[in-house]
Amino acid sequence: MKSIFEKDNEYILNLYKRNNLHITKAEGCYLYDSNGQSYLDMFSGIAVNSLGQRNKEVIKAIEKQLSKYNHLSNYFVSEPVIDLAQFLVEFSSASKVFFTNSGAEANEAAIKLARKFGRTIDIDKTEIVTFYNSFHGRTTGTMTLTGQEKYKDSFAPVLPQIKHVKFNDIDELKKVVSDRTCAMFLEIVQGEGGVRQLCPKYVQELSELAKKHNFLLIIDEIQTGLCRTGKLFSYQSLDVVPDVITLAKGLGGGLPLGAMLVSEKLDNILQHGDHGSTFGGNPVACAAGTAVLKTITKEGFSQQVTGKGEYIINKLKSLKKRHPKIIKEIRGKGLMIGIDVGEFANVIKERGIKHCLLLNVTSNSVIRILPPLNISYGEIDEFLNKFELILKET
Ligand SMILES: Cc1ncc(COP(=O)(O)O)c(C=O)c1O
Repeated sequence: MKSIFEKDNEYILNLYKRNNLHITKAEGCYLYDSNGQSYLDMFSGIAVNSLGQRNKEVIKAIEKQLSKYNHLSNYFVSEPVIDLAQFLVEFSSASKVFFTNSGAEANEAAIKLARKFGRTIDIDKTEIVTFYNSFHGRTTGTMTLTGQEKYKDSFAPVLPQIKHVKFNDIDELKKVVSDRTCAMFLEIVQGEGGVRQLCPKYVQELSELAKKHNFLLIIDEIQTGLCRTGKLFSYQSLDVVPDVITLAKGLGGGLPLGAMLVSEKLDNILQHGDHGSTFGGNPVACAAGTAVLKTITKEGFSQQVTGKGEYIINKLKSLKKRHPKIIKEIRGKGLMIGIDVGEFANVIKERGIKHCLLLNVTSNSVIRILPPLNISYGEIDEFLNKFELILKET
């Protein structure tokens, strides 16, 4: 009989570098392989399972919705969809929500919105600016936004009128933006780019430039949003009000769900028929999303995330002192933490599996820590102890 790995190879288009684990069940912060061995998951499905696996409230909400209906199409109003939209509006600067199935689709919707916004002012106001090293998705439009050649150089020609600027370099930005700019997309903390934060001063000056040239600030909160960096949305720790916010990852409690949130001044730009999605805003995914939002907006939750993040960063800083040849830098906010270990990243990730610790590498050299937001201090200590053991072996 063929093994699951042989079958995977036979039937699945081989686009991902799989590890050699066959996970058969999961609970909270742990995944279990076919032999019953548990693994501590420190990246939660790339920031998707933000309340861990099989969270009770999320399961209850999914089951309740499934007992009513699973899909209606967007021709119908739907309570779970409206409930989630209301939550997102009440806790953000936005006034309306468009639901998608993924982050890339949320950003695609935002590209269309930005271009239509620009063209209603001037037919040539169509330029979009993003950062080098950013990541906004894999569709044709969003890979063009993404400021990393490796994701797009085989797929040219890409979308026209997209410009890239250096991260945190306000002088360069001043030279690039003009009245022809319709929008700038930004991550407050670049995730795939290696966990790098924008300076508050840069964001403030960018905000002024956006007002001066009347372009939209589109904050991609797909990875940073929903309490990942401590605040419900990462922009809330800065002096900026976004025109558009895009979300996905943790939004659907493990089910596919994304969203574009728009501010009041934009809520008439896209009209009937301008955009749409068959699955976008699936009622079951939205019900799961509301269960997530109910939990992460509870009093004290975001402070707990901030506290756990500070605890991990402080402990990692002590580890850096003990292993200065391996750990080059520790960056991050809340439970989005990058440990720059240079050329050791992949070795550490592989050794992690041997120690039943699941780690993610981004930007080739950064171990990216994105655990469930409700990870316990006991589980954090388990990670830190195992991580130090791995560093000693490296
Ligand atoms: C900041 C950011 N934007 C967009 C995306 C794309 O989201 P998706 O993979 O759901 O299309 C990602 C995914 O990693 C992301 O981190």
